Order: sequence, then C-alpha cells, then structure tokens
Amino acid sequence: MPVRHYPILHDYIVANRCVTTEYDDVALELVEGALPPELVGTLLRNGNGRFEHHGVKYDHLFDGDGMVARFRFDGRQVHYRNRYVRTAEFVAEEAAERMLYRSFGTNLPGGIRTNFLKTKFKNTANTSLVQHGGHLLALWEGGLPHRLDPDTLDTLGRFDYEGVLRNPFSWLDRLITPEMPFSAHPKVHPDTGVLHNFGTVAGAQHRLALYEVSPAGEARLAHALPMPEATFAHDFVLTRSGHQIFFLTPVAFDVLRAITGLTSPAASIRVNRTQPTQIVVVDPTGAVHRLETDFGFTFHFINGYQDADGTLVADALLLGDYPDSPSIKAYLAGNLPDDQPQATFVRFRLDLGSGTVTRQSLSRYEGELPEIHPARVGQPYRYTWAIGRPPESPSPLLDHLIKLDVQTGQARHAYESGTLCSEPVVVPRLTSNGAASPREDDAYLVYLRFAAPTRTTDLIVADAADLRTLARLRLPHNIPLGFHGLWQEQT
Ligand SMILES: [Fe+2]
Repeated sequence: MPVRHYPILHDYIVANRCVTTEYDDVALELVEGALPPELVGTLLRNGNGRFEHHGVKYDHLFDGDGMVARFRFDGRQVHYRNRYVRTAEFVAEEAAERMLYRSFGTNLPGGIRTNFLKTKFKNTANTSLVQHGGHLLALWEGGLPHRLDPDTLDTLGRFDYEGVLRNPFSWLDRLITPEMPFSAHPKVHPDTGVLHNFGTVAGAQHRLALYEVSPAGEARLAHALPMPEATFAHDFVLTRSGHQIFFLTPVAFDVLRAITGLTSPAASIRVNRTQPTQIVVVDPTGAVHRLETDFGFTFHFINGYQDADGTLVADALLLGDYPDSPSIKAYLAGNLPDDQPQATFVRFRLDLGSGTVTRQSLSRYEGELPEIHPARVGQPYRYTWAIGRPPESPSPLLDHLIKLDVQTGQARHAYESGTLCSEPVVVPRLTSNGAASPREDDAYLVYLRFAAPTRTTDLIVADAADLRTLARLRLPHNIPLGFHGLWQEQT
C-alpha cells in the first residue's frame, strides 16, 4: 500500500517518545491572549504518555502507559500536574527496567517464543477518565478501571466496584477474561445521574456486558448479551429516553491467536466487510432489539436521542474500513497510507417498530474525537466540536479544529500550519447567576496543541462559537495530545 511521510507527524511522535518528567502544580506561562477570569475549574486529560518504553517501540497508538494531565484554572493562572497511572504492570516494568507485558497492539520482543501463552496483558489505564459515585477513575476498555486520588493524582489501585467487575461466568470464561472490561466511554444519564457503561467480554461465550452505577457508586451488571464473536466495540449511545445503542461491527478479535501469543490482540482482529453491522438497542424496559446496517466501523459516537416521532437517532463518526495494525504502525513512523480511511459524520435513524435503519451524511468534513455540550448528552443538540479536516484540505491528517452544526451541515474550522491538536473539551460559559448559558456554543473549548516548528505543546482556550484562540499557555514539556478528558467545575 503506498504511504507518504508526514514530517509533522514524525516530529510529534519523536517529541513524545517517552515522557518521564512529572510536574507538581507548576504555573503555566501565558504566551498569547488572556485567560477568561470566569473560567474556573479543572481540565483532566488521559492518554498514552509515551510511544516507546525501554527501547521497545510500541506497534500501536493505544499501548503507551496512561498519563493523566491536570490543568487547574483559578481565573488568573493555570497550574499543571501530570502523573503516570501506577498500574501493577507499570510498577513492575519500571522496577525491571524492561518490557514485561504484552499489550493491546504490541507483543513482547522475541516472537512466538517469548509470547507463547503469555496471557497477562498490560492494563494501560490510558483512555479516559470519569468522576462519578465519589470516585475519579482512569479507564481502559480491556480491563478494570484504576482509582485516582483527585488531589494528588496518585493511583489508589484497581477498582472493581466491590466485585461487580469480577467475571461471574464459567471457569473457562474467567480463565480467558478474569476481570470484566469496563469501557472508556461511560455515559451519565442526564436525569437520573446513573452511570451506564459496557464491556465486550471475550470468553467461552463472548458477551456484551451492560453496567449501571448509581449516583452513590453502587454498581450492578444489568445485562449480559451473548455475542457470536469477540467484537471490538469502543463507544455507545445513551439517550435521555433510556435507550442504549451498540454497533456490533464484524470487526472481531481472534481470541485463540491473541491468547496463544501468535499475534497481539489488535493484530488478531479480523474484518469481514461482507457482513452487515449488527445494531443492538436495549430499551428502557430492558427489551433487546436487533437491527442491521451495511458494514462500517465506528470508534466514536457524537451523540444520540429519541426524536419526537419515536425514531432513535445515533450520530457517529463512521469509517468505511477498519484501520488495521500495519497502518497504525506506519502512522507511528510518521507515515500515512494514501488511502488512509478517515471517519465521516453520519446520522443513523433507527425505527424499532419496522426494524429499519437509514443513514444520512451530516457533512463532507472528516473528523475524530467529537465532543458536545455536556448538558446535551442523550438529547437533541446542534453542535459538535472535533479534530478533523475540511474536504479541501490537501493533507489526510486530522490537523484542523472543527465545529459542525449537525442541524444545518454548516461547518467551520481553525488551522495553524505545522500543528496538531487534541480533542477539544467543551466548557459552558456561566451566566452571572452561575447557570450555564442557554446558547449551546456560548462556551469555551480547552485543548492541547503541538507545534512542530518549535517542538512545543500549548494549552489553548478558544471561543467555542468561532474557534478563536483566547489564551495560549506553554507547557514545560511536550506530552502526547492524548485521547479523552473531562472538565470539572471545581478546582
Ligand atoms: Fe475513545
């Protein structure tokens, strides 16, 4: 497959090969604009803290140990702290000063001889964070969450919700997957405060596990739906009406190949493009509905809701194909295939009565890491913000910040040559009485931007309406742009 080298991507990977320094609440230097004084709160981000370790380059973007970055805004300054999540595997590898564990996309050096039947994988705890039920958790979809001290960011240990995330199925199921996966994309219901989440559980019988966690932090396994394959699913939709929507694409792990060590789990993934995507809807009564749509792979949903006519809407960033392990490895060398698949904004409408699924393109832009106004989860909404590229962009890189009006299809973007940006977290602007502004884009965006020419990483505060940079603060070092973050109103 023809590939092209992108120096900016290469520079980004090299600058972040291995972050080692951990800072303790240092004040960031303001290098442009001014901080909005009313922007008070905390941005927490999680992501892969490095692309290689002890001389071993990871084969996959998802394999670096989780590093949490915290930015505390007090209205005048921003203080920065970063901490690696001290998983048991991280601690053991640090002590041994070498790679000890296989991970999602990287086997140990040495081929089958060193990987054969090495069934313990590294929990990287690197994908996202959630604050709910009195706990701050670092999440990774392949295993248990890790609980963090919200003040120090110290790791308090693996967290299983008092045993709810211990595999309750057969001995063989427990052997294959002892700890129940808890995805990195939980959703909190806007009315009940209940956190809903899922895990895809490989076993003698593969299952889609659905969890509910009360606002007090009490969890239960609400459903365990058999799946014919060990499907790879990363995100789901929760509507205010109480529907949960899952896309089970024919993109599945070959568990035998992965567990025996013939390949990493990621490289074991098989894609059957001739098969449709199964859509599973669990309605508020607990009834399960199954629908189908043509093949396509979705990492992230934008949002979803039940329309006035009862139709369910699921807005997704839809890939025409699944990015296989060789293309991810090429990405980490700064190379992108000419036909690199990128995701487009697509609206699915699901009619549970007739079982029909229709799809509609929302834009010609491509994007990833979509965010919405936090008060619009599960409800009709107007805007999404993401990284992406306009159709006229000559580069396949998602190197623009974009804003899309999903109702009109109108989009705008911001671009700085030689830079890459992170997922933009949306922070509603507060009115004088302390309530969030009713206008959906009357908000700030907070995100990171890496500049290749200066090899620097900045924290940006932008106006969500027009994407204009309001403040730029320089980090004392480069860190990877990471995956997902959240905003807390308290500092
Ligand atoms: Fe994600």
